[in-house]
Amino acid sequence: MDPEDWADIVNEAVAEMAGCVDRYGGTVAQFAGDSILAVFGAPIAHEDDPYRAVRAGLDIVGRVGRSDGASRGIQVRAGIHTGLVVIGDMSAGDLNVYAVLGDTTNVAARMQTMAEPGSLLVTADTYRLVSNDVTARDLGPVAVKGKAEPISVFEITSARDISTRRRGIPGFRSPMVGRDEELDHLLTLVDYAAAGSGRVTAVVGEPGVGKSRLIAELHDRVATVDGARWVVGRSASYDQERPYHLAASLVLALAGAAETDDPPIARKAVVKTADPIFGVDSPSTGYLLQLLGIEDGHPDDDPAVLHSQYDAALAGLIEGVATEHAPLILICEDMHWADASSTELLTGLLERIQQTTALLIIATRPDRDSHGWGIIARADRELGESFTSSRLQPLNPDTSRELVANLLEIESLPHDIRALVLSRAEGNPFFIEELVRMLVERDLIEEVDDRWIASGAISTLDVPDTLHGLLASRLDALPTDVRRTAMVAAVIGRRFEARLVASALQSVQAEGPSAVGGHLNTLEGHGVVKLAETRPELAYSFRHALTHDVAYESILRRDRRRLHADVGDAIADLYPERLAELSPVLARHYEEAEDPEQALRYLLLAGDTALSRHAMPESHGFYARAAALLAADPDAPVETKVDVALSQAEAGIRFTPADQTIAVLEEARDDAEQLDDTELLARVYALLLRVRTLLDENYANSAYREVMDRAYALAPLVRTPEVRAFLEGMMGQVLRSADEYAAAVELASGSVAPLEAAGRVGEAGFNAAITADVEASRGRFGEADRWITRATDLAAASGNPNVIADVELMKGRIAAARGELATALTHTRLGMETAEGAGNIQCTLVGNFLVADQVLRGGDAEAAIPHLERTFELGAYCNAEAMVALGHAWLAAAQARLGELDPDGFAAPLEKARAAGSRSGEASVRLHRAIAIAGTSPEDWSATFLDFERAVALYADIGARPDQARALHAYANALEAAGQTTDGRAKLAEARAMFDEMGITPDRVAA
Ligand SMILES: Nc1ncnc2c1ncn2[C@@H]1O[C@H](COP(=O)(O)OP(=O)(O)OP(=O)(O)O)[C@@H](O)[C@H]1O
Ligand SMILES: [Mg+2]
Repeated sequence: MDPEDWADIVNEAVAEMAGCVDRYGGTVAQFAGDSILAVFGAPIAHEDDPYRAVRAGLDIVGRVGRSDGASRGIQVRAGIHTGLVVIGDMSAGDLNVYAVLGDTTNVAARMQTMAEPGSLLVTADTYRLVSNDVTARDLGPVAVKGKAEPISVFEITSARDISTRRRGIPGFRSPMVGRDEELDHLLTLVDYAAAGSGRVTAVVGEPGVGKSRLIAELHDRVATVDGARWVVGRSASYDQERPYHLAASLVLALAGAAETDDPPIARKAVVKTADPIFGVDSPSTGYLLQLLGIEDGHPDDDPAVLHSQYDAALAGLIEGVATEHAPLILICEDMHWADASSTELLTGLLERIQQTTALLIIATRPDRDSHGWGIIARADRELGESFTSSRLQPLNPDTSRELVANLLEIESLPHDIRALVLSRAEGNPFFIEELVRMLVERDLIEEVDDRWIASGAISTLDVPDTLHGLLASRLDALPTDVRRTAMVAAVIGRRFEARLVASALQSVQAEGPSAVGGHLNTLEGHGVVKLAETRPELAYSFRHALTHDVAYESILRRDRRRLHADVGDAIADLYPERLAELSPVLARHYEEAEDPEQALRYLLLAGDTALSRHAMPESHGFYARAAALLAADPDAPVETKVDVALSQAEAGIRFTPADQTIAVLEEARDDAEQLDDTELLARVYALLLRVRTLLDENYANSAYREVMDRAYALAPLVRTPEVRAFLEGMMGQVLRSADEYAAAVELASGSVAPLEAAGRVGEAGFNAAITADVEASRGRFGEADRWITRATDLAAASGNPNVIADVELMKGRIAAARGELATALTHTRLGMETAEGAGNIQCTLVGNFLVADQVLRGGDAEAAIPHLERTFELGAYCNAEAMVALGHAWLAAAQARLGELDPDGFAAPLEKARAAGSRSGEASVRLHRAIAIAGTSPEDWSATFLDFERAVALYADIGARPDQARALHAYANALEAAGQTTDGRAKLAEARAMFDEMGITPDRVAA
């Protein structure tokens, strides 16, 4: 063939291929000789881009390749892949050519070269997005250059027509949930129509809310009504500008033909239906065929006249069919995509329908700007009672849950995953389906023994790619400047103030705030955002969390950074008096803006603000983020680092595992040593002592002793009274847990005044409470009362729930030392609950431990057990080994009381207490063991008496006089029981004397 002729043929074929791409809203990105590269979904996204691409591909191989291609001697093949593409600057120049880069195009090209002539190959990534709508052959995996894993390939053999496309997850099906009222309403309308009172109704709702599903449900019900006829016309998203396509689809449906039927078959069907109505060879039938594009009209037909002919013919057809079938149910699906001319035709028929046996149902999204909306507006204005409309609302939480359960067929989805799905989907059934599909497809959940279990931790669910197009298309349909406004709004968050958007936009957009107001209106009209409130200021929110995510994700990374900075600046600018309150938000924006300086500033402010409100976990979180920023910056000043580490440790000390806090502090210690800064070091050591005390460590631990020795050396060198008091107060707490009562009281009590003077009221209160507790342990109840009163005042002044809880626990201990167990429990329980409410794990742990001790001493072994279990659980989390060990001794004591004595249950705790060098711990375990065994009246009392002796001696050594008296008392009772009356009486007298001297009472159930 002549090369020039050949070039003509190729050019013509290429132009035809481009036409197919254009028909489905794709973009031809490159022409290369005899091939084209097309993109769907960019620069403009549609909700069904993968389907569009497949339709275009099939048209290309089918029409261009097969029908006339063969005669022209050319062969065509096509390939599709779905993935991320980067498109060159679309605004540069007016060339309609985009640079499409990336791996995705290489894989698509590979599909094309692999395809047999006349066939269309797609990858699995594309197939899964269209699998509901096509028939295909699985060709199995093939190796593709540049890809580590083989890619599964499918040959698409045909695509379903839009009228038979369906949603849902293959293999997962739910009956319709909810919607009873709406369905009943439609059934009533069917009855009216059947009785000759024709009706028009609209089913309006957001995409995916269930309009089509409701209609499908109606269809199943109507199928059983005698004589009923069901006729569906529909619009496709890519046909909006194709005149009369909806009307044509209705005509075909009325004639019982399919849209895919070849023209001769369609013509036959139309003629067969029309002839009995209009008579043979009627011009009306001709107009119907023209409307369908099967017959050509006269070139000089007047369009206005033609329109009224179509109108009359369609009306006649409907009336004719309706007379034969009652009721006739006419559905216009997806009216929001209807073309203008069809809408006008149908609008003209509204009045007439009332006199027929027809029910016209219009399903549409609430797009007031769409051509299709016109018919609803008109019906609403003019039809009166004959027109009704149902607005489908999102499913309520119960119905949503039912839907999830139905889809998965098993109710037992892990609670947090279900909650995640429900909160992300917000009652939209389509979103629910797609999120569930994503969970299954990504193997995030799996079915094991009739239950769904999570395969790993899931804390977020991103937008399923099957939904991405639907959501993105709503944004992409908007003008650029409106889209820009939506993006800035998305950067602010799901909810945003109009004023803030305007202010943040100033740096990128010349138009003033008035333009922004208009944009927000447009966004509202398109259902992207909704009004959130008008007072105290105008604010909107994205209608769906998923829409917000998609808007945010559509921003290029480098733009995101700048926009976050703009938004941060705008917030700081607009609300200068609310910086502390807004600091968490500001910190996040500057973190996203990668502006470490501002981010640090607001993180510290946020940390301090949270700390001042005793929100420890939040505060800790902010400081930890600040510390991370500093760690990433090699030039960060060491002082700042130590400072932030101290804040972080202090905020986190009570609820993060101790080893984490120790690691933070040890790094700070090394930094402070390097700076040779005594004040900083003193603060670091004070906190190190506190964690180690919380760890329940003792002097026997060398790390602990080292820290304490260093603290003793440091304390005199510290110049600031406050810092010194902080350190010494902490040392006092350490000494208390080492049973060094005198030294503990001296240091702890001495710290109270300087701390109070420095405004550190909470710490002062805590140390006063510690002092009171130690005094009570020594039997000096007058001092104890004085200090606990002071502690109570200071705690109240601090308003810090952690300190209030601690003081309450100490009150409980003081009352318990006095033998007033009922009062003790009231305080202890209150302290424990306050701590739990404040999220203070450490203090909750101690609270449970103390409640167990006190109820056990009161004789209620059963009540002690749950508190001991909680002690073990929390103790394991906090590494409070000594407390857990003691708890086990008490558990053994409780079990003994319940008649299950296991003497070995005490052995390990005893060993532990001795190894830790804890005298009070050892005494306590021995005393409990002795009492437990004494209760069984053993043959041989010698070991038990030895335990009593040791316990008494240890308490005496420490100076724990109330405990000593109690041990003596129990010992006396045991001697009495063993028949050693003389010894028993002597010990009893000794104990009584001590009780009297201290003015306290013995435990009634001591032995
Ligand atoms: N009440 C319901 N019970 C169970 N499943 C439902 C319910 N409503 C909708 N679904 C399912 O959710 C999916 C989306 O519903 P449907 O296609 O009817 O939405 P739509 O409102 O027609 O959306 P669009 O505007 O995009 O056409 C479908 O798979 C449908 O089966
Ligand atoms: Mg629908």
